Amino acid sequence: MADSHDFNDRMLSLGLARVSEAAALASAKLIGRGDEKAADQAAVNAMRDQLNQLEIRGTVVIGEGERDEAPMLYIGEEVGAGTGPEVDIALDPLEGTTLTAKDMPNALTVIAMAPRGTLLHAPDVYMEKLAIGPGFKPGTVTLAMSPAERVSALASAKGCSTEDITVCVLERPRHEEMIAELRTTGCAIRLITDGDVAGVIHCAEAERTGIDMYMGSGGAPEGVLAAAALKCMGGQMFGKLLFRNDDERGRAKKAGIKNLDRVYTRDDMVTAEVIFAATGVTDGSILPGIKREPGHLTAETILMRSKTGSVRRMSYRNPTK
Ligand code: FBP
Repeated sequence: MADSHDFNDRMLSLGLARVSEAAALASAKLIGRGDEKAADQAAVNAMRDQLNQLEIRGTVVIGEGERDEAPMLYIGEEVGAGTGPEVDIALDPLEGTTLTAKDMPNALTVIAMAPRGTLLHAPDVYMEKLAIGPGFKPGTVTLAMSPAERVSALASAKGCSTEDITVCVLERPRHEEMIAELRTTGCAIRLITDGDVAGVIHCAEAERTGIDMYMGSGGAPEGVLAAAALKCMGGQMFGKLLFRNDDERGRAKKAGIKNLDRVYTRDDMVTAEVIFAATGVTDGSILPGIKREPGHLTAETILMRSKTGSVRRMSYRNPTK
C-alpha cells in the first residue's frame, strides 16, 4: 500500500480516468434536456462516488464552491477511501453546464490530482488568462502586453503573419474591446460560448485544433484546471485574479492568497507533478462526446501525466441497463 508521501501517479491515473468517465456517463442522460442543475448534480454524484473508491486521502481544493454553497465536492471536502497518499484534487464535474443543457459542443468532465499542497487554492472569482502551446521561448507572450502585441509577438516567434494566428476567446460583452483590438491585427478569432478549460487546452494541440493562443477572463478555478492540463501537454499559461468587490477580495484572502496582484505562471498554479483526466460529454474539438448506441454508451477520455508528458486517449464502452 502506498504511504502518504508516495504520489503514485502511474497507479492513480487509471482511477482518475474512471472518475471522469463516471461523471460524463451520468450527465449524458441530461444532454439537451434544458436542465443545467440536474446535469451538474448527476455529474457531481457520480464523481464523488468514484472518488471515494480511490485509495487516496484527498482534499478538494478546487470544487463546486464553498462548504455553505455546495452540499458535495465543496472546497475542503475530504474524499477518497482514506488510505494511501495525501493529495489535492481540483475538479469540475461538468465544465459547460449550459453547453450540456443545450446540447452544444465542448462540454467536458474534468479532474486533476497532485500531491497535497501543490495546487493553487483559487477562489471563485474571475482570472485573466493567457495561454500558448509548447515550443516557444519563455515569455514569448505576457499578460503585460496588449492583445495586439501578443498576436504580433506570437506571429514573429512562429515565423508567420499575424493573419495566420488564431486566438480563442470567450464571447462575452466584457471582451468586446479586446476583440476589437485583436481584429486590427487581422488574426482569426474563435469565439466560444462557454468552456475555457477546453479553450486553453486547444493551444497545446494547435495543429489539431487550429488555435494558437487563448486569452480573456473566466473562472479562476477553471484556470487552475487548465494549468494542470498544460503542465502535462506542454505550453505556457499566465493567470491573474480579478476582483470586482471586497467580498471577492475576502474570498481570496480566505483561500490563503496574500498578494492579490500576483501574476501566476502555469507552474505557480501547479507546483508539482499532476495527473489530469477529462471526458467528453458533448462532441468537441478536444474529445468526442458520449455516444449512444443500442445496448451501450461510449465515453472518450484524455488522461495525462506531467511526470512523463504522456497523453492517452481512451475509449470506454459501458452497457446500458
Ligand atoms: P460552468 O460549467 O460552471 O457553467 O462554467 C462554464 C464557463 O464558461 C467556464 O468555462 C468559464 O471559466 C466561466 O464559465 C466563465 O464565466 P462567465 O460565464 O461568468 O463569463
